[in-house]
Amino acid sequence: MAPVKKKAQKKTVPGILKMFAEGEKIAVLTAYDYSLARLIDDVGIDIALVGDSVGTVVSGYDTTLPVTLEEMIYHTRAVVRACRQALVVTDMPFLSYQVDSGDARRNAGRLVKEGGSEAVKLEGGENIADTVRSIVAMDIPVMGHIGLTPQSFHRMGGYRVQGKGAEQARQLVADARAIDAAGAFALVLEGVPATLAEEISAAVSIPTIGIGAGPACSGQVLVLHDILGLCEKYSPRFVKKFADVSGPIRAGIESYIQEVKGGAFPGPEHSF
Ligand code: KIV
Repeated sequence: MAPVKKKAQKKTVPGILKMFAEGEKIAVLTAYDYSLARLIDDVGIDIALVGDSVGTVVSGYDTTLPVTLEEMIYHTRAVVRACRQALVVTDMPFLSYQVDSGDARRNAGRLVKEGGSEAVKLEGGENIADTVRSIVAMDIPVMGHIGLTPQSFHRMGGYRVQGKGAEQARQLVADARAIDAAGAFALVLEGVPATLAEEISAAVSIPTIGIGAGPACSGQVLVLHDILGLCEKYSPRFVKKFADVSGPIRAGIESYIQEVKGGAFPGPEHSF
């Protein structure tokens, strides 16, 4: 008899915190659509992040700023339908939480109610701590995100490593503490020196999830398309290509074009 495949247990926020407490590293990848979310879920990713990087990766914008709440709800629904075991976290897009906390609570609630997300992610530190607290008070788990925050593209003058100087580093530690104190369950550290990420990880009580933040974080997150070599536009230094699938995809599509043009496809086995 074939061995019965053990059904993976659904990951939850308490489950992620248990992993952290037990010293197990947390593996996070972005997901925006059903097919790829099925794949990452099936192989055991811990958290599927419906990132607003969907704007740059999938929609071709230069920044994440144009992404709307409706688009995030749409992509979240697809990912939620695919994920049987991963925890699904959705980014709150620019302008969905910065104006006032009433707006932020309603929009976080829409991502949970209409999208089916299990937690939301907000970019910012001390400046958004009250907003984080108010969303957490609605029983919506919040993941923070500090350092290189892509929604701050214009303030930063581009995608630049943050926290290099002493004053910036001090501010980032204060931001991390504020997000921790506001009740977030995890904190993304993006584009900060590895030593600072280590200092921040030691200064907070919640797991830190690094992206371009060195090995001391409690987990790592990367953009799925980056690790598969599907993002031909640009590739930051912190990305490791774990596979390069753009070559086989191109070759497959070229064969399809040739067979259609040459009349080899469809053959009798593909016809009724
Ligand atoms: O939008 C995104 O994909 C993100 C992660 C890369 C951290 O915020």
